[in-house]
Amino acid sequence: MEKLVIRGGRSLRGTVAVAGSKNAALPIMAACLLADEAVVLDSVPRLADVDTLSQVLDGIGLSSIRLPTGAIHLEVNDSSRCEADADLVRRMRASFCVLGPLVARRGFARVALPGGCKIGDRPVDLHLKGLAALGAEITIKNEEVTARARKLHGAAINLCGERGTTVTGTCNVMSAAVLAEGDTWLDGAAREPEVIDLGRFLCELGAQIDGLGTSRIHIRGVPRLGGGFYRIIPDRIEAATIMAAAAITRGEIKLANVRRSQLTAVIAKLRRIGLTVDSDRQSLLVHGDRPLRATDIDTAPYPGFPTDVQAQLTALLSLANGTSRIRDCVFPDRFHHLTELRRMGAQVRQHGNEATVTGVRVLQAAEVTATDLRASAALLIAALAARGETTLRQIYHLDRGYEGLDQKLCALGAEIHRVADEATERRAA
Ligand code: EPZ
Repeated sequence: MEKLVIRGGRSLRGTVAVAGSKNAALPIMAACLLADEAVVLDSVPRLADVDTLSQVLDGIGLSSIRLPTGAIHLEVNDSSRCEADADLVRRMRASFCVLGPLVARRGFARVALPGGCKIGDRPVDLHLKGLAALGAEITIKNEEVTARARKLHGAAINLCGERGTTVTGTCNVMSAAVLAEGDTWLDGAAREPEVIDLGRFLCELGAQIDGLGTSRIHIRGVPRLGGGFYRIIPDRIEAATIMAAAAITRGEIKLANVRRSQLTAVIAKLRRIGLTVDSDRQSLLVHGDRPLRATDIDTAPYPGFPTDVQAQLTALLSLANGTSRIRDCVFPDRFHHLTELRRMGAQVRQHGNEATVTGVRVLQAAEVTATDLRASAALLIAALAARGETTLRQIYHLDRGYEGLDQKLCALGAEIHRVADEATERRAA
């Protein structure tokens, strides 16, 4: 186990390149199960979640090899294995995205129900509703989903649940529908850029999909998918995380490899808080040159403010002038980072699906523990501004979703050391 030791108080300056999107790469890798020929994916980030999914795919006969160029080569080598490793699926929720492609291409799939996690209940009822509508016979036994279908057929499906639509549910059902007989309409489809990227990838392999980026996607089933090459979009959540780091350290950073159009809600909020944001063709120039101002935030499905940036901005607003109200309408319980922020002197309180953040003048360094992926990023951001040396533990959460974020921040002037965490090593021994 490792931990990060962060000495706060340094302004970040320089240029950084954003990695490929985790939440686009994962469903796209799973969708390679549909392809009859080899696929090469570029810009797949080097993350623990990608490694975990590679292990899941290897277990169901899809090999994935990182080429010397950094791209990943994926090819089916055994279509007889259709049962995903339950422990791996429970460890990484996005593995559930193999269900749709498997049952569509091979007629059978067995995948464990993904566990919940610190950000709240993570049902998959909408995934299963969509696949059943396509004709899959779904059964659940011993926390495992089995899906069977001789051949899927097109359907009109509504993917809206009580809390709006589902990102990976749209990915799962859209991937399955591309090989179904006939036409499928997905109403209440997710509009996230990562869903669009999956749809564009599938079209690259020969699928016929219209309406990507809208809440009504139309898929015309095709008999087979070939192979091909595809470059994954940049990670908008990593970009937002680095922008928040620039703001809290009053730094000046140029972010390369970003799609400004995918960050409009985040840019609007950060500007409101006090970050100067300019852009040229391929990059964003951000400057934390003004005092931070309290701002209210309501998360929402895209193109609303992303729930995956809520924790990072909660950390930033803990140093703003005034009181902010932050409501997470997607994951109402995504506030486990508040306890750890309080250890650093932040004045933050949760009331149901809302957090109240009253800005303080300084944050104090402390020993804090990450509870989930975006909470780890929030604590790292807070530590960059805190007075003294902060220790951040359980950083495996961070490594699940960020490609060397600590190294990138060090290259911008942060003082961060990644060291063995003797305490957890002693306990583990
Ligand atoms: C995706 O998770 C992302 N993960 C999450 O990012 C992100 O927070 C989330 O979308 C929302 O944008 C990946 O793409 C791998 P949902 P997903 O299904 O698809 C409810 C990160 O930090 N729901 O869109 O699992 C659900 O409870 C991760 O990178 C149902 O009710 O989220 C939630 O309230 C964390 N039934 C809401 O919908 C279902 O069948 C949105 O969930 C599915 C979801």
